[in-house]
Amino acid sequence: MQDIVWPIDECRVCGHDDWLDVVSFGSTPLAGNLLGDEDDAGGETLFPLDVVVCRRCWLMTLRHVIEPDVLFGHYRYVASDAGSIIQHMRKLVDLCVERIGLTDGDLVVEFGSNTGAHLELFRQAGPRVVGVDPARNLAGVANDRGVETIPAGFTAEVGQEIATRYGLARLVYGRQCFAHIPDIHEVLNGVSALLAPDGLFFVEVPYLVELLKNNQFDTIFHEHFSYFSLGSLCTLFESHGLRVVDVHTADVHGGSIVVFAAPAAADHEVRPAVAEMLAEERSQGIAEERTYREFADRTERVRAQIRELVRGVVADGKTVAGYGAPTKGSALLAACGLGHQEIRFCSDTTVLKQGRILPGSRIPIWSPEQAAGHVPDYYLLLAWNYAPEIIDNEKEFLENGGRFIVPIPEPRVISAESTL
Ligand code: TMP
Ligand code: ZN
Repeated sequence: MQDIVWPIDECRVCGHDDWLDVVSFGSTPLAGNLLGDEDDAGGETLFPLDVVVCRRCWLMTLRHVIEPDVLFGHYRYVASDAGSIIQHMRKLVDLCVERIGLTDGDLVVEFGSNTGAHLELFRQAGPRVVGVDPARNLAGVANDRGVETIPAGFTAEVGQEIATRYGLARLVYGRQCFAHIPDIHEVLNGVSALLAPDGLFFVEVPYLVELLKNNQFDTIFHEHFSYFSLGSLCTLFESHGLRVVDVHTADVHGGSIVVFAAPAAADHEVRPAVAEMLAEERSQGIAEERTYREFADRTERVRAQIRELVRGVVADGKTVAGYGAPTKGSALLAACGLGHQEIRFCSDTTVLKQGRILPGSRIPIWSPEQAAGHVPDYYLLLAWNYAPEIIDNEKEFLENGGRFIVPIPEPRVISAESTL
C-alpha cells in the first residue's frame, strides 16, 4: 500500500509542514473510478481521505498522495458539454483574446485540454492551438477532431518541446485541472519554458472560499489534491517568477476564480481586483484556524442531514435516484453513507459513464432515456452545480409531482411550487 499512497511531507506550495487537521472522511474508494463489468466486484481498494490546511500559506490539501497511475489510470472524466459551460468557455475565449490581444499567428497551449472542445473555440478565434492531456483516450478524441494534442502530463520537458516545435506561447491555459496535479511546480516549470515574455498564464480553479462558505464537502475527493485561494496561488506563482495581474470570479463548479499571471520581469499592470480579492479573502477568515473548524462542524451536520432526509423519504415508501453521476456525487454518497439501498440509479448524459457502476455505493449509471422509464419520486441533485439549468429543463418532472433534493449548502426539497 505504501507504494501507491503516502502522506505528503511538506506543503506543495510553500514547503513548510505546519498542518492543521480539517476533516476526515475515513477510507473511501476512488470516487471517479467508475466500475465496469470487467472490474472485480469483490474488494475495492480504499484510500484515506483526510483534509489538512497549511498554517503558513493556507493551501488546503489532502494529507495523502495517491500514485497518479492508480488515480487516473481509468480516467473517464469528459469535460461537461452543459450549455452553461459552453457559454462560459466562449466568454473566457473572448476575455483572453481581448486581454492579451491574441492574433492569428499567436500560439495558445492548454494543459488538461481533455477532448479539445475549448481549444477548438480558441482556434475559431484565430490563434494556433496545441493541447496537452495525460489521458490518452481523451487526447485521441481531440486529435481526431483536428486539435493537435500531446498525450502527456505538462512538464518542463513538454513545455520545452512545444516551444522548440511551435515557438513561445502568448497564452498558457489550464482550466479546472490545477487541483488534480500533484507536482504543480513541474507544471510551472513547463509554463516558464513556454510562456512568451509578453504572454499570460491562465488558470481557473474552484475557489476555496466558496467551498468553505457553501459546505461543498463533496468536492473533496482523491483526484482533487489542492484547494486554492488567491493568496495561496500568489505564493505559488511568485516562487516561479510569475506575478498575478488580474482575477475574475466565475459562476461554474460551485464558484471558481479565473487568474491571470505574467512573468514578473514583464512589469505588467496589476489590476485592482487582485488586491481587492486578497483583502476580501482575509476578511472571510481564510487565514484563521476557526474558519476550518467551523467548516468541519457544518460538514458533519450537513452529511447527517442529507442521510436522514434521503432515508426518511425512502422509509415513506418513495423512490429516489441520483441526477447526474459526477465524481463529487460519488463522493457525496460515500460521505453520507448512502448506497444502492436508497438510490436506485443515477441518470447521466455522459455516454462514457452510462452502463457503469459508482464505486463504493454500487449504484448503476443509466442514460436519461433509460431513466425515463423509471421516473423516481425524488431526484437527489448530485450535479448541483448545474441546478438552475437542470431544474429549468425538468419542469415536466416537477409538474408531474416529482421533487428534487438539492444537497448543499443545506439539503432542501424543490417542488413545482417552490422556487430555487
Ligand atoms: P461535472 O460537475 O463534473 O461537470 O459533472 C456533471 C455531471 O452531470 C456530468 O457527468 C454530466 C451530468 N449531467 C447530466 O446528467 N444532466 C445534465 O443536465 C447536466 C447539466 C449534467
Ligand atoms: Zn503552505
